[in-house]
Amino acid sequence: MSLSDAVGPDAPDPYELLSWYAEMGVTEALDETPRNHFADPAPAGGNGQPRLRSLPGRPAAPARPMAAAATAPDDAALSAKALAREARTLDELKTALAGFEGCALKATAKNLVFADGNPEGRVMMVGEAPGADEDRIGLPFVGRSGQLLDRMLAAIGLSRKDDVYIANLLPWRPPGNRTPTPQEVAICLPFIQRQIELADPDILVCVGGPSAQGLLGFTGILRSRGKWVEYDTGARRIRAIATLHPAYLLRRPLDKRLAWRDLRALKAALDGKN
Ligand code: URA
Repeated sequence: MSLSDAVGPDAPDPYELLSWYAEMGVTEALDETPRNHFADPAPAGGNGQPRLRSLPGRPAAPARPMAAAATAPDDAALSAKALAREARTLDELKTALAGFEGCALKATAKNLVFADGNPEGRVMMVGEAPGADEDRIGLPFVGRSGQLLDRMLAAIGLSRKDDVYIANLLPWRPPGNRTPTPQEVAICLPFIQRQIELADPDILVCVGGPSAQGLLGFTGILRSRGKWVEYDTGARRIRAIATLHPAYLLRRPLDKRLAWRDLRALKAALDGKN
């Protein structure tokens, strides 16, 4: 069913159809044939066809809840903790995440977005969650925000290739880039915590409010950015700081001066000057 098919007496209201697409997180129309992100990954005897019923009338709701949502949140968080703890290397952690079915975001995402940059770098940056570009490519911070982040790093002489390891609080894109729910954050938290422990950076930089809240317990990024705190990785205590998200800076360029202060503080810390 495409918008161009939606004609005739039984056709749905185009506005309603578009609203439904938006609600379901549809932000792109790339494929010739529809792809059902809600389909069971291994349908018993299924024919692989999308399970969303076609119109007429009104847009159909997904035929069944997402497979990944079948696990109760508490069980999912417990299983995330156990899996994360068992991983002894970053590669093992990535494999564990790829096989984890406890977070519903996995069902709607195209790719797992694990990390980019140098895992040996002295700085680890953790953003919020992948956007559309990151979801498509499978790497964090590759869209417009990522390009700004790279320029910000370059301004203090750092590059993602050599100096910085980059990941996100959540490794799957929330549909339509909506804010992750507290439940989704709680379920994925053990993985990013273990990722930080295994990468073992000297300095952790939380990029944006959700990352600062999830990892450092900060509320109100404008109030809490730029303040040094200690972060316990589980193996040792390291320095941590929160800064403004580049997506926010693209909307509020005047606040780049605040981010610049944070970057200078980061540079001074790396140089042993604060
Ligand atoms: N915003 C984030 O927080 N992370 C990304 O990877 C991309 C955009």
